Amino acid sequence: MSKKIFSGVQPTGNLHLGNYLGAIKNFVELNNEKENNCIFCVVDLHAITVKQDKDQLKKNIYETAATFIASGIDPYKSIIFNQSKVSAHTEFSWILSCMTPMGWLNRMTQFKEKAGKDKEKASIGLYIYPILMASDILLYDATHVPVGDDQKQHLELTRDIAQKFNKDFNCEDFLKVPEPLIKTNFSRIMSLKDGQKKMSKSDPSNLSRINLTDSKDAIINKIKKAKTDSFPIPDEEQKLKDRPEAKNLLGIYSSVSNQTLGKTLNEFDGKNFSDLKSRLAEILSDKISPISNEIKKLMDDHKYIEDILLEGANKADEIAEKKMKEIKNIIGF
Ligand code: TYM
Repeated sequence: MSKKIFSGVQPTGNLHLGNYLGAIKNFVELNNEKENNCIFCVVDLHAITVKQDKDQLKKNIYETAATFIASGIDPYKSIIFNQSKVSAHTEFSWILSCMTPMGWLNRMTQFKEKAGKDKEKASIGLYIYPILMASDILLYDATHVPVGDDQKQHLELTRDIAQKFNKDFNCEDFLKVPEPLIKTNFSRIMSLKDGQKKMSKSDPSNLSRINLTDSKDAIINKIKKAKTDSFPIPDEEQKLKDRPEAKNLLGIYSSVSNQTLGKTLNEFDGKNFSDLKSRLAEILSDKISPISNEIKKLMDDHKYIEDILLEGANKADEIAEKKMKEIKNIIGF
């Protein structure tokens, strides 16, 4: 069955292995299924919910688009564009904001984490950010949304908003209720320095993550320095329960080599972490270095990336404007 796919990545720099294994790798697989229609968005409007430097933001928008292409998304098959070029996203987001109860937003754990202790100082944009995300998805009638585990709650909110809109305006099935596509086991890649913390762009320690622009040597060094524990590798998944660092490295290995965690455990059962680390460094650098090299090449050709983004924005705008017209009609504008 053909799927309508929509997903987004923020252009906030330091795209890492978590973004790749949790999201972008799945984008590529979905792009490669002939019958799917995919839209991959550089969500620059989401990025400005926290302060951005103008030149850096511009560079990060290009780099995110370059990462999509370098990872294997075909820009002539899928639509790649940046969100701020299609005004329907903000327009629809306002409409959805007017019908989303604050109580629903108050439950969002990511806002609590990102706003930190001083919630009063966080921007309103950061607070209503999940509504913008809902408008991204619902404008394109997406049936499936590939994301990492940290976006699960936002996807549930999107589903609730779609259902409420359809009910409030008595237009059953008008907004499509999307399904999240979250890979079990590999949807939450953890920091290499602390298995309890998510691998993240904003972690001050560069050793905590593998960046998609890292060189082969950097990858080998980071895996070598990754935190482990002092027990041998077990034979069963269950025995990894209280060993977050071990589980994370074995999960990364499984995801990169496209095999189940069970199969990886069979491969390394009884061995030491030094064996796992040297194999992991090898397969990771084989996977990531070509992407990293391609990103660098593409970043030298801004005109190419600009053309892809422009063409993508034109196509996305056509779809979104058509939906916006119907939305306005339903509302009574
Ligand atoms: P963002 O930019 O934070 O992350 C992009 C994608 O990477 C996934 N991800 C991870 N997956 C596994 N392990 C990790 N450590 C890890 N870190 C990040 C995220 O789950 C995400 O899939 N709100 C979204 C962007 C967005 C969006 C959308 C996504 C805006 N509109 C519409 C889907 C549909 C975000 O901030 O992702």
